[in-house]
Amino acid sequence: MTTVAIPKERRDEETRVAASPDTVKRFIKLGLEVVVEAGAGAASAVSDAAYEEAGARIAKNAAETIKEADIVLKVLRPLDDEIALMKRGAILAAILAPTADPQSAGKYAEAGIEAFAMEYMPRITRAQSMDVLSSQSNLAGYKAVIDAAAAYGRAIPMMMTAAGSIAPARVMVLGAGVAGLQAIATAKRLGAIVSATDVRPIAKEQVESLGGTFVMVESEESEAAETAGGYAKEMSEDYKKRQAVLVAETLKKQDIAICTALIPGRKAPLLISEEMARSMKRGSIIVDLAVEAGGNCALSKAGEVVDVDGVKILGHLSVPGRLASDASALYARNLFNFIEPLINTETGALEIDWEDEIITGTALTRDGAVVHPSLT
Ligand code: NAI
Repeated sequence: MTTVAIPKERRDEETRVAASPDTVKRFIKLGLEVVVEAGAGAASAVSDAAYEEAGARIAKNAAETIKEADIVLKVLRPLDDEIALMKRGAILAAILAPTADPQSAGKYAEAGIEAFAMEYMPRITRAQSMDVLSSQSNLAGYKAVIDAAAAYGRAIPMMMTAAGSIAPARVMVLGAGVAGLQAIATAKRLGAIVSATDVRPIAKEQVESLGGTFVMVESEESEAAETAGGYAKEMSEDYKKRQAVLVAETLKKQDIAICTALIPGRKAPLLISEEMARSMKRGSIIVDLAVEAGGNCALSKAGEVVDVDGVKILGHLSVPGRLASDASALYARNLFNFIEPLINTETGALEIDWEDEIITGTALTRDGAVVHPSLT
C-alpha cells in the first residue's frame, strides 16, 4: 500500500502542517495509508485525535513516521536527519526553496529522493489548485492589514461621533499581486481609503475593481513588465527613479503602507527608502511582507518591529504561519491536489508522468540526479 507521511515541522518558527483531517480523509479514499507524527498539527490547532478520526495512524516520532513512507509531505525543506530517514525512491513535496540552501538538491539526489518544490508550480489553469504561493500569499495579504491595524494607534474607518469625527486611514499597497489584492480588499472592508501601485499594467483593472486607486509609472517598459508566467521583471534604473518619485509623493500622505512586491528568483525591489519612510506621519505603519526576500523598505528588519521616529516597520517572518489553521488547511489541499493525479486509482500505486509540465516544473531530482533546469 502507498504510504503518505506527515512529519511534524522541525523549525521553531514554523507553525503549519502539511495535512489536514480533510486531506487525510481524501488520501484514504484514494486507497493510501496516512501516517502523521504525534503533535504535527498542534500549532495549527489540529489534535492527533482529529487526524486519527480522519483515518490516519499516529506515529510517535519522526523516524517511525518517515522510514516506510512512499510520499513525504512537509511545509519547509527537511533537515539533514529527516533526509537520512527517507527511503530511496520516496517522493518529497514541500516548499523546498533550493536556492536558499544550494546543497539541498544534491542531498536529495544522493539519497535517491524524488523532490518536488511546490513553489515552482507553473502558473497554468490546471495547476491553480496546487499553487502554494497563491494560497499562502492571499492569507499573508489579509494578515498584513490586520497586523497593521493592530499596531496602528488610530481607527481605520471614518467615524462620526458626538465627540468629533475620525478621518479614515489612508492605506497604500505596493505590489498588487495575490497578496496585494487581498490586502486592498481587506483594507477596503475595514473602511480605509486605498491606493496601490505595481509595474504590471494589468493590475490597474484588478485594483480598481476592488475599489482602490491605481497609481503607476506608465511607459513602454511597463507594457512588457509581465513575464509569460504572470510575474514581474526587474525594471531599469531609469524606471526605478521615476517610480521612486511617484512612491515618495504618494507615501507621505499615507498612514499605512503594505509592501508585497517580489520578483521571482531575485532580491525584492527596494521601493521605500529611509527618507520616504521618515516622511510619513508619526504613528504610521509599514508592513514589509517582502522582508524575507530582502524587503521593499530600506528600514525593515527580518523578524523585527522597528520604530523610526514614531513610524513602525513590521518585518514579521512567515506571515501565513500567523494564521496557521487556515494556512495549513489550504496548503494541505494544494498538496493533495498535486499528489492525487499521480496515483493510479485502480492499484493505489504511484505513477509519475515525467513529461507533464507540472512535474517538469516542480521536480528538482529524479533517479539520483538533480534535474531542474534552474539548478543544472
Ligand atoms: P509576486 O508575489 O511575485 O509579486 C507580487 C507583486 O509585486 C506582483 O504583482 C508584481 O507585479 C509586483 N511587483 C514586482 N516588482 C514591483 C515593483 N518594482 N514595483 C511595484 N510592484 C512590483 O506575484 P504574485 O502575487 O504571486 O502573482 C502575480 C500575478 O500572477 C497575479 O496577479 C496573477 O495575475 C498571476 N497569477 C496567476 C496564477 C495562475 O494562473 N495559476 C496563479 C497566481 C497568480
